[in-house]
Amino acid sequence: MERFTPDQAEELADFLTSSDWPFHSRVPDRSTVLRQVADGHWDGPSAQTFWIERRGVVRLFDLDDGSPLFDLRIAAAERGRGLGSRAVGWLTGYLFETLPANRVEATTRADNHAMRAVLAKHRYVLEARYRQTWPDRAGVLHDGVGYAVLRQDWDSGSVTPVNWEF
Ligand SMILES: CC(C)(COP(=O)(O)OP(=O)(O)OC[C@H]1O[C@@H](n2cnc3c(N)ncnc32)[C@H](O)[C@@H]1OP(=O)(O)O)[C@@H](O)C(=O)NCCC(=O)NCCS
Repeated sequence: MERFTPDQAEELADFLTSSDWPFHSRVPDRSTVLRQVADGHWDGPSAQTFWIERRGVVRLFDLDDGSPLFDLRIAAAERGRGLGSRAVGWLTGYLFETLPANRVEATTRADNHAMRAVLAKHRYVLEARYRQTWPDRAGVLHDGVGYAVLRQDWDSGSVTPVNWEF
């Protein structure tokens, strides 16, 4: 993985505007991406972005609040070839090595089966389902799902189940 730097803003805008992102609520346009880079959204005090072999990008964010999150995007032509899975394995290790975080979190749309498969593979556990929270571009509200992996599970290779007893 190669760290994105703000001088690569044009390249990032090219990347984000050349694939479809069916599970994201908004289509990124060039000027928005350039403005976001200038504002520190992609690389700043609480966010870092990495290129995945120039065939994908992953933005790590909320790096300062104890439970970091990420937004992973693989170019449309490169999906289903193992890149997303490799990226989640890498970023989870990177976050636990470089931050004192006890958990890494991930949210996605409930029908994003590829993303959910990738998360389950890396010991992220389903903790929540958020009903009608995730708008698509037509305004239809889909359910979202929340996952997290615990540091202890990452270190030991185990999976701590959610305790649903109250
Ligand atoms: C979701 C995404 C990151 C997954 O990365 P990927 O490189 O396509 O996925 P991989 O090739 O690593 O596949 C990982 C697993 O998902 C499974 N998978 C892939 N596509 C799938 C699909 N459409 N339905 C069900 N499972 C799927 C694979 O079979 C694989 O499991 P396996 O190794 O047990 O066979 C990628 O498809 C993507 O960028 N999609 C668009 C952006 C997006 O939705 N990002 C998530 C935002 S929350």
